[in-house]
Amino acid sequence: MTSAHRLPIVVLISGSGSNLQAIIDGAKQDLPIEIRAVISNRPDAYGLQRAQQSGIETAVLNHQRYPDRESYDRALISLIDGFSPGLVALAGFMRILTPAFVRHYAGRLLNIHPSLLPNYTGLHTHQRVLDAGDRLHGATIHFVTEKLDGGPSIVQAQVVVEAGDDADGLAARVLEKEHQIYPLAIRWFAEDRLVMDENGEVWLDDKKLDRPVLLSPQEPIG
Ligand code: GAR
Repeated sequence: MTSAHRLPIVVLISGSGSNLQAIIDGAKQDLPIEIRAVISNRPDAYGLQRAQQSGIETAVLNHQRYPDRESYDRALISLIDGFSPGLVALAGFMRILTPAFVRHYAGRLLNIHPSLLPNYTGLHTHQRVLDAGDRLHGATIHFVTEKLDGGPSIVQAQVVVEAGDDADGLAARVLEKEHQIYPLAIRWFAEDRLVMDENGEVWLDDKKLDRPVLLSPQEPIG
């Protein structure tokens, strides 16, 4: 595939970058994207090494060097826009974004969240699912809007909570699904099959998505 047919994307991370790795691996196969840069707010994020190992440009924008969220997000916009991405993918980027940032990338900003949204926005989702005694858990890819973890969901993968699960074991099984659904949603977007319009409505293959595509625990993904 020539680069002319690949969607330029920028990936934002804060940590391990295992979702980033799934996206990199997809791009090395037939995912029609070009990862222009990986940006982290943390200098020690392991995902930066993953990117470098694949020859992808990296940048660190340390939030501790900025007096407030607004100035950080302004600097982040200018860094990202230097790479002219058609899509910005948040992959474990653990920062709350300002409305100005979200508006700037409206319709081309995706996030992955480790729960079946709208359940369990925020942090510590796996422990909260266990504490509540839920039988089903999972992960969601959604468009980002000004509402925290509240933008329209695109695809969800379910995971069965097993007796005796602890948060780490459950997180690992959810992460396996994350690595499948993020490249899938990015593929739909890169192939112009997935759009969020100016009314915040999501369309997949010209059909309005009133609820996310739901992949049950046994369902093969791809
Ligand atoms: C993933 O589980 C992702 O869903 C979560 O952070 C982890 C990053 O892992 N994101 C959030 O909680 C966002 N609110 P990774 O760095 O190995 O991809």
